[in-house]
Amino acid sequence: MVDISERETELPDAVIGKLLKIAVEDKTVISLGPGEPDFQAPKPIIEFVKKYADKCNHYSPPGGRAALKEEIIKKLKRDNKIKALPENIIVTCGSQEALLLATACTLDVSEQIILPNPSFMGFLPTFEIFDANPVFVPLEEEEGFEINPDEVKKVIDKKKTKVLLINSPANPTGNVISKKVLEELADIAREHNIYIFSDEAYEKIVYDGKKHCSIGSLNGMEKYVVTLHSFSKTYAMCGFRLGYAVGPEELIKAMTQTHIYSTISAPTISQLVGAEALKLSPKYTDAMVKEYARRRALILKRLGEIGLPVAKPYGAFYAFPNIKQYSNDSEKFANDLLTKGKVAALPGTEFGREGQGYLRFSYATNYHLIEQAMDRLEKFLKKY
Ligand SMILES: Cc1ncc(COP(=O)(O)O)c(C=O)c1O
Repeated sequence: MVDISERETELPDAVIGKLLKIAVEDKTVISLGPGEPDFQAPKPIIEFVKKYADKCNHYSPPGGRAALKEEIIKKLKRDNKIKALPENIIVTCGSQEALLLATACTLDVSEQIILPNPSFMGFLPTFEIFDANPVFVPLEEEEGFEINPDEVKKVIDKKKTKVLLINSPANPTGNVISKKVLEELADIAREHNIYIFSDEAYEKIVYDGKKHCSIGSLNGMEKYVVTLHSFSKTYAMCGFRLGYAVGPEELIKAMTQTHIYSTISAPTISQLVGAEALKLSPKYTDAMVKEYARRRALILKRLGEIGLPVAKPYGAFYAFPNIKQYSNDSEKFANDLLTKGKVAALPGTEFGREGQGYLRFSYATNYHLIEQAMDRLEKFLKKY
């Protein structure tokens, strides 16, 4: 018998799976598709895994292990200027689970969540699973894909809007939201009494001296903001499935209760290792960011030479060039680039309607492969 729920069948059918399958099966393809670091996790992390291998057969407390929370509190104070108590923190299976729990605990059916478009493909389906009502704020290339507070105000519904989601540094555009804009968004949250979910998974990956600022650190915002953090990008620990959220105590309490019914606890081994990771010197992450910066410079230079306009990314590890001079169908273009040009990239439409006419290239890939991919792109475009 096959009887899948309506909710599930209505989830977007991401093309990413199909594209990545071809990219993996066809060894001649160079993939600039994946959104995860190509680096090995730093050496000490591997050593900690070995050290704790025989100490991880039990569940951990649902909200997270006390020793890990202690390290998170220090890190939030030092790096994010956020003051937190253990009651303000929940440790989760990646920041994706934290988003899911925050959604479950704030949004009733049909209540509104505002989110930028284009934005990370993991956001929208999460809200759809809970039958919330997502409302989009279009991002403009001319504005570096920065969210515009006036556009946010336009879509706020006094009765229905419950949450505004932001993501900085952003996937797929690389935008880093300025402090000024964060302050305006904070004013909006206070005035309309809405939560802000702030996805800061790429907080450590910024370039050209850009500063990442946590909206949760702004005056009085601890009552409104749920900050979503991840170990996946900072420490190349995607497979450890470790993240955390910091937010108002009552909400974190509700999320912790819900977490018992989703995954019970984040993996014990990951929590033990995560506590150690937070004590590491920043040099490990800095080394990765230095290499991302080198690749970013290469990809921006080559896209410039090829003639594809691109809003300069100041964070994360993606370039989001405009391909409208060649095609207004990103999906077809990505498919042609894959099958004829042998380069895998994601169509902008994977990130929402406003991504039409764009492609996402990830530079979490070896420098020399990016060089070759750009040569192939140039050749492909000459005939397109
Ligand atoms: C913006 C953004 N948020 C969250 C995630 C998921 O992070 P995690 O591995 O912590 O669940 C990703 C993964 O690519 C992402 O790009």
